[in-house]
Amino acid sequence: MIKKGIILAGGKGTRMSPITKAVNKQLLPIYDKPLIFYPLSILMLANIKDILIIVNKGQLNQYKKIIPNGNNLGIKINYLEQDKPRGLPDAFVIGETFIGKENVAMILGDNFFYGQNLTKKLLENTRLKKGARVVLHKVPKPELFGVAKINKQNKIISIKEKPKRYISDLAITGLYFFDNQVIKFAKNLKPSKRGEVEIVDLLNRYKSKKQLTADLIGRGGAWLDTGSIEDFYKTSAFVSAIENRQGFKIACLEEIAFNSKWINKKHIKKAINFYGNCDYSKYLKKLINKS
Ligand code: TTP
Repeated sequence: MIKKGIILAGGKGTRMSPITKAVNKQLLPIYDKPLIFYPLSILMLANIKDILIIVNKGQLNQYKKIIPNGNNLGIKINYLEQDKPRGLPDAFVIGETFIGKENVAMILGDNFFYGQNLTKKLLENTRLKKGARVVLHKVPKPELFGVAKINKQNKIISIKEKPKRYISDLAITGLYFFDNQVIKFAKNLKPSKRGEVEIVDLLNRYKSKKQLTADLIGRGGAWLDTGSIEDFYKTSAFVSAIENRQGFKIACLEEIAFNSKWINKKHIKKAINFYGNCDYSKYLKKLINKS
């Protein structure tokens, strides 16, 4: 079972400038909560309770104001800083000590997942023992994404970053599961022309050893990458529509922890105090009143 997870929550956020000049993208709101809550909720749903959040140098204090530690959630949150955005695989170099000898999941801080059967799929992926697994989602414009072509056994046979010629319409999302070789592979990567180490190069190491598999999110699931302003607002609209229609919140961290029995009513009361008088707290109050 994969028990450790990394959230990569730094980055320049160039596409969302000037909004991201002073505040990191992952601290901005997707509807009623900071973006960082969503990837964190995904790791928690995967039953991962030991989590490293990697943030930009100088932004640690802002993160700690929102998520001081994992105590109120019954989990362990560790923070480390990245001094500059060296690329996604840098997470495994920064996180080497955190990972130790174990396998690890990684989610990008700006990725949003939602859908039926998601928890079941997440739990299945944490059973990965050897190799690496990426989560794929069908997209209408594959030329804008890193994409993967798979065979019948869900083994990946080719991957390509922003392919000019069609190879597949399955985009590689920002959720990955790796065995411990990832540290060694990440350390040996050379920066690409744009000066960053590339996740595609890391995945190719696994592919060349025939150790790269895929999990598909079907049409009942949604994956949204919130990197551009347009996508950011679309994701907010999506969350607002679902929450207001169903009365359930997406990515209410305390609710996930409470339902998993990692915390009790006392913790929820503390959380209500911490957040103060807001809709999120009202939702938490309802949660403990009905149970
Ligand atoms: P990107 O979308 O590649 O980059 P970005 O968020 O800085 O945005 P832009 O392209 O507009 O400049 O990053 C994906 C996620 O990974 C995002 O949440 C930021 C994070 N990230 C890091 O934390 N460190 C890194 O070195 C890189 C490349 C990304």
